[in-house]
Amino acid sequence: MPQTLSVIKADIGGYIGHTAMHPDVFDLGREAVARAVQSGLLIDAQVSSCGDDLFLIMSHDRGENDERVHKLAWDTFVDGTEVAKKLHLYGAGQDLLVDAFSGNIRGAGPGSAELELEERQSEPVIVFMGDKCSAGAFNLPFYKMFADPFNTAGLVISEALHQGFAFEVHDVKEHQKIMITTPDELYDLLVFIGSPARYAVKRVVSRATGAVGAVSSTDKLSLIAGRYVGKDDPAAVVRCQGDFPAVGEVLEAFTTAWSVEGFMRGSHYGPWMPVAQRDAHPARFDGPPRVVALGFQIAKGKLVGPRDMFDDLSFDNARAEANHISDYLRKHGPFEPHRLPLDEMEYTTMPAVAAKLTSRWSEI
Ligand code: 13P
Ligand code: 13P
Ligand code: MG
Ligand code: MG
Repeated sequence: MPQTLSVIKADIGGYIGHTAMHPDVFDLGREAVARAVQSGLLIDAQVSSCGDDLFLIMSHDRGENDERVHKLAWDTFVDGTEVAKKLHLYGAGQDLLVDAFSGNIRGAGPGSAELELEERQSEPVIVFMGDKCSAGAFNLPFYKMFADPFNTAGLVISEALHQGFAFEVHDVKEHQKIMITTPDELYDLLVFIGSPARYAVKRVVSRATGAVGAVSSTDKLSLIAGRYVGKDDPAAVVRCQGDFPAVGEVLEAFTTAWSVEGFMRGSHYGPWMPVAQRDAHPARFDGPPRVVALGFQIAKGKLVGPRDMFDDLSFDNARAEANHISDYLRKHGPFEPHRLPLDEMEYTTMPAVAAKLTSRWSEI
C-alpha cells in the first residue's frame, strides 16, 4: 500500500512582526493534527515551524491531493488565524488567499509538497522548511543533490544512482511542466532552473526505478494574489539512501549559503542560512533567509523523529558565510544586486513615483 507524506504550510500570523510563530498557534496546530491521527484520517503527523510559517507534516495512505487531508490543513490554518487575530499577531491569516476551501489547497495560498512512496525496510526522509525565501529556492540544492557528482559521490560510485535522475520543472507563470533527464540533458535543465523565479523544480525522480526522490512546494503567493502578501517560504521532502542520495549527500547541498529571493519585504537577495530549529527566527532585516532540516525514519507510516539535522557544527562555516554575505549585501541598501531587479520586486513605489515625475522627463 503506497503511503503519502504531505507537508502543507502557511504563514497565518507572525510573532513578533514576521520573525517567529506564537506558541498558542503552534499548540492549536498540534492539537488539530493529533485529532486527525486519532480519527484515523492520518497515520501520523507532526507540526513544526520555521520563522513565522507553520508546517504540518502528515503521513497517510490517501494519496496526493486528497480532499480530506487538504481540508484538515485548511481548517487548521483558519482556526490558527483566529488565535493569531486574538493575539493581534502580525499578518494574521497572511497566506489564506481565498474565502472558502474548494476541494484542494492548491491555488488557495498555502504551499504543499506531497510525496507518494512504497515504504522500504528503512525509509530515511528529510523535510526542509524555508522562511524569507521564494518557491524555486530548492532548485540549486536539488541540482546539487541529484545531478552534481562533486556533491553526491553516489552518482559516480553507486550502481543505484548511476543512471541519474529526471527533474520535473514547472513554469510557474505559464502553468506548464516538463521532464528533463540528467546527466544527458544537464545543460538544458540548467537553462531553466538557473532562473528560479520563473522555473521551479517540483519533483525529482529516479531513472532506475521511477520512484520520486524529492518534491518541493512551488506555489507562488504573489502570482495567486496578484500582489505582495508575503514570501512563499517553501517546503521540500527528500528521500535518502539506497536508490537516492545518502543523508549526508542531501545535507551537503546546504554547505554553501546560496542566494535566494526574499529577506526584507520579499524584495532582496540574501544568503540562505541552514540553521537548527532554535535559530529559525530571522530577525536581522527580517533575515537572513533560513532553512531547517528535520530528519525522520518512517516506520509503517509513523514519523520516527525528528532529528534537527542542521544542529551540527559542520554547518557553522555556512552560517558564518551567510552572516558575511548579509553584511556585504546590506551595504548596498536599495541598490541591486541586494534589491531585486524591478520586475521581481514584491514592493515597489515605481508606478507612483514615475507618474509623479512624468512631466519632468525630457529628451536627451
Ligand atoms: P546506502 O548504501 O544505504 O545508500 O548508504 C550509503 C552510505 O554509506 C552513506 O554514506
Ligand atoms: P514572510 O513571507 O515570512 O511573512 O515575510 C514577509 C516580509 O515581508 C518580511 O519582511
Ligand atoms: Mg509573515
Ligand atoms: Mg514566513
